[in-house]
Amino acid sequence: MLNLLIMGKPGAGKGTQAAKLLKFYHLTHISTGDIYRREMKKGSDLGRLAQEYMKKGELVPDDITNNIVEEVLNQKKYPHGFMLDGYPRTRSQAEALDRILSDLGIKLNAVINVHVSDKVLLERMAGRRVCPNCGETYHLRSHPPVKEGICDVCMTPLIQREDDLEKSVLNRLNIYNRLTKPLLDYYREKGLLLVINGEGSAQSIFKELVTRLGDY
Ligand code: AP5
Repeated sequence: MLNLLIMGKPGAGKGTQAAKLLKFYHLTHISTGDIYRREMKKGSDLGRLAQEYMKKGELVPDDITNNIVEEVLNQKKYPHGFMLDGYPRTRSQAEALDRILSDLGIKLNAVINVHVSDKVLLERMAGRRVCPNCGETYHLRSHPPVKEGICDVCMTPLIQREDDLEKSVLNRLNIYNRLTKPLLDYYREKGLLLVINGEGSAQSIFKELVTRLGDY
């Protein structure tokens, strides 16, 4: 079993690397952002509540997010291990995760931090387009769809995420620096942190990650 956590600033490429690592190691993906976007699409009460925070680039309150992650992890649907993506994002979430994993008798193997400069992030988020149907992610320059504006996988017209508009992006970066960045020290002190340069091509970053995870 390989249990990973992937961290990084908004737009660092967490989702892109997570998708590759999931396939390679047969891991179960637990992305709190994806969970909230699915609930928004369904129009559930949780989705409506999350949308209020997400469109402004703010975090959904910790108790709500912790309960969701606890419920998913308690289902134990991760025969080969899991990849937590976008969680934890605050000290209180990290402490809740420690408790949940300890109750389950599970350990994290590594915490990946994908490091990218702010200039690159802003360019990535401005160019990101997503499929509202299957969730596939593209970039206008580095990873365009075959047919302009249309998802390669399911042929649905692509959209720009509401929280990728500039005002929201700057708020997300601010929140990351204030609340999430300190978690790097939290995991470094536990000997779990693996920092990777996220500015190469998606494939070269993935190759380096696999080489470095080889030790686990
Ligand atoms: P979430 O969905 O987790 O968003 P995020 O952390 O802001 O991360 P992103 O999805 O924006 O970026 P990414 O790092 O996955 O980058 P990607 O691979 O797409 O959360 C969204 C919101 O949900 C939060 O703001 C919050 O409101 C709420 N939420 C979620 N979790 C929460 C929690 N724990 N607590 C409270 N609230 C929570 O790549 C970005 C772009 O770059 C793409 O276009 C991609 O194609 C391109 N790209 C990727 N890699 C490369 C590369 N190497 N070279 C060139 N282009 C690349």
